[in-house]
Parts: sequence; C-alpha cells; structure tokens
Amino acid sequence: MESAKWQGKCPSCHAWNTFVEEVLQKDNKKEIWKDDKDKSGPKSIRLSEVSEEESKRIITEDHELNRVLGGGIVEGSVVLIAGEPGIGKSTLFLQDCLQLKKITTLYISGEESMQQIKMRADRINIKNDNFYLLNATDTQAIFNEIKKLKPQLVVIDSIQTLESPFIESAPGSVSQVRECTAEIVRFAKATNTPVFIIGHITKDGSIAGPKVLEHMVDTVLQFEGDRHYSYRILRTTKNRFGSASELGIYEMSQDGLRQISNPSEILITQKDEPLSGIAIAATLEGARPLLIETQALVTHAVYGTPQRTVTGFDLRRLQLLLAVLEKRGGFHFGVKDVFLNIAGGIKVEDPAIDLAVLCALLSSYEDKPLPQRICFVGEVGLSGEVRAVNRIEQRIAEAEKLGFEKIYVSKFNKKSITQKSAIEIIMISKIEELYRLLF
Ligand code: TYD
Ligand code: MG
Repeated sequence: MESAKWQGKCPSCHAWNTFVEEVLQKDNKKEIWKDDKDKSGPKSIRLSEVSEEESKRIITEDHELNRVLGGGIVEGSVVLIAGEPGIGKSTLFLQDCLQLKKITTLYISGEESMQQIKMRADRINIKNDNFYLLNATDTQAIFNEIKKLKPQLVVIDSIQTLESPFIESAPGSVSQVRECTAEIVRFAKATNTPVFIIGHITKDGSIAGPKVLEHMVDTVLQFEGDRHYSYRILRTTKNRFGSASELGIYEMSQDGLRQISNPSEILITQKDEPLSGIAIAATLEGARPLLIETQALVTHAVYGTPQRTVTGFDLRRLQLLLAVLEKRGGFHFGVKDVFLNIAGGIKVEDPAIDLAVLCALLSSYEDKPLPQRICFVGEVGLSGEVRAVNRIEQRIAEAEKLGFEKIYVSKFNKKSITQKSAIEIIMISKIEELYRLLF
C-alpha cells in the first residue's frame, strides 16, 4: 500500500500504525558551478562541427509518399499515419511495402488475420519475397521477432491494438498508446530502422490517444478522403525532415491505390456543353497547384427556411460569401436554397477558392453558364473586395499548362506577377466588376 498522506490505519489490512514514512527526494547534489573539478555531463559543440551527413533515405516506388515525406523514408524515423477507418491506410502501406522488393519489410497487424491480409495482397497482386507478415499485439513479442528478422522497414497496423506488458491498462487506452509509441520510438532510434505507425482517428478528427503522440513521432501524415469518392489525399501535418505542407493524391481502384501525378486533369470534369453553376478555381494545396471545379446549385426555397448545404467547403464561409453577394450585389439569396460542392470529394482550405465559389453561385443564380476555359483565383473580403493570394505565379502557370485561356486574379496581386505568360490575366478589385465582366 502507498498513501500520499499520513494514515493511522491501513485501508487494506486494517492494522494500526503500520504505515511508515518514506521521504521521496532527489539527491541533494551541490550546485555544480561552485565546483571547478566536475567535468562530467554532456558537452556542447560548435554548430560548424556538427557532421553534415544527411540522413539516408529509402526511396519508395510510391512517388506521392516520397513527396509527402520530403523525399523518401528517413532511416530511423517514426511516421504516424492517421485516418478514419476504411479510408485505405492498410491498403496503402501493404502496397508500398510489397513494392519495396530490395529491402526486408515487416508488416505487423493486430487487426486482421494473415488470411485477410493475403486476400488484400492478392487484389494488389504484387509478388515480393522480402515481405514478412506478423500477427501480434504484444510489444515485447514483436521486438523479439524483429530482433530475429532484422527488417529494414516496419509497419504497425494499428497502434490502437498494441499492448505493452509493462502497463496494465487496456489496448487503445491513452496510457497504452503512449507507452507502446515510446517503446517503438526507442527501438527505431536505437536500431536506425524506420517505422510507420498506423493510427485511427476519432469522429472529431483527432488521433485516438493523446495529443502527445504527435509530439513523440518525427512525422505525422493524415490520410483523408470522402468514402463515397475514390480520391484519397495524404497530407503532411508535421515533418522533422521536410516541409509540413506537402500533399499526395491517390485514387482507390479495384487493385489498390493508384498514384495521381496530374490531379488537375481529373478534378475538372470533361463536358461537351457549358453548364451553369460551375467555376474552376486555381487553388494551392500544400505546395501543389491544383485546379478544382466548384459546383453550385441555387434554387427557389421550397420550405420556409432556405437550406445551405456544402461538401468540401466551410459552411460558414459560404454564408459569408452569400451575405457579401446580398449586400454588395443586391442578390436575394435569402429566398434561395444553396448547394455547394467541390468536385472529387476534396476538402479545400485555401481561401483563394472564394472567387470561384462566388462565380459558381452567380452562374447558377442567373442560370447562365460561364465561358469555358476560364478560371478564378482570389480571396473575397467582407466589403466585396477581391484580395491578393500567395504564390500567384505558380497558380497561373498551372492554369496555363492545362490550356486555360483566361484567369481572373486580384488587382492587388499585380506586383507579384512578373513572368510573361500566354494566358490572359484579368485583374479585378471588387466583386461588382466581376458581374459586369462575366454576364
Ligand atoms: P483499408 O485499407 O482496409 O482501410 P483502413 O486500413 O484505413 O481501415 O481499406 C478498406 C477499403 O478499401 C475497403 O472499403 C475496400 C477498399 N479497397 C478497394 O477499393 N480496392 C482495393 O484494392 C482494396 C485492397 C481495398
Ligand atoms: Mg486497416
């Protein structure tokens, strides 16, 4: 028994005066700066003396993964992949391991049986004799096997199923998840083996288990997408070895995930005749320019309270844009149902998409299609001004590459556009001008 304060009677055996006081105190060391002789402890060195040897990287066949990791898997790094159940985390890493034929990989699953994994591997249909499977949840048993096999890459699917014998709580609990991760991190650093840890996220989008997990690992990747669409996005949210705003795009197919190296071409639907309510935005996801189609439907409200429904866009942002249109343009959206959709089930956070959303809304309101081969980029402010966005030249270059003829940008971006391009750049400063130019 232990007690933090004085106890007369032991609550366990009910005997009196059996508790003894034990003072828990750190050794009272004397302060070191008073003593000249003591030379122990860590030593500092000059920054210039630190060896410049770059950490070695394993380059995988998956270029999207290489990109989000900042150029391949760093040896000894621990990477956390977080995503909702069923999004394709197991598929992605099974596939990436199977493609790595030159190194020994170990895939540890605590969720699925060997047969289930085999069935999935058959769908992916890649043969690899250096790929090993382990069905285990006990961390010490896992390390034991690793010691024998000496794999060069380890995948753990998932952290929520692991169990450390040093801790009593149930698998998936905060303390278990934290302890198991700490053991894995120690292993990775000691043996210089890279480890991928797959983790489920809860409904509110946070990684189940403590936030501290994110601090313990070197890199955090988020795997996301709408289950009803086939596109999946792998996003870096933390990276000690590269940029934290990279993005990889995949498509879920019959035989695993397919890398998409040219996403803009797929995200814009091919159509024979122009349709109303569609506008193309030149967005930037991470460091990657992406042309995305925004679709709006504005109809007369059938019920008393008009509906606002969005997919892939922030609802409050839509309400704000509608209020701006109402106030600055005199459009009566108050009696209309408004639906807004970002094509491909992609979630866009880039505020530069505003202008395209606004044009899609106007186009549907007027039921007039916008001319084809034009795109938009700009943030819309509360007073209806079109604001400048970052990396404008990169966006223009992407639009030009995809054969667009005109791009509408903010007048305030003028200074940052220095390069000449074949695409016609139309500068606007207020949304009022937009209506005159388009309709
Ligand atoms: P899974 O990798 O099990 O997701 P997670 O590990 O994130 O829970 O992926 C499950 C989904 O992927 C499942 O609905 C089936 C689908 N899928 C395909 O569409 N094609 C494939 O080739 C594979 C292996 C899975
Ligand atoms: Mg899984």
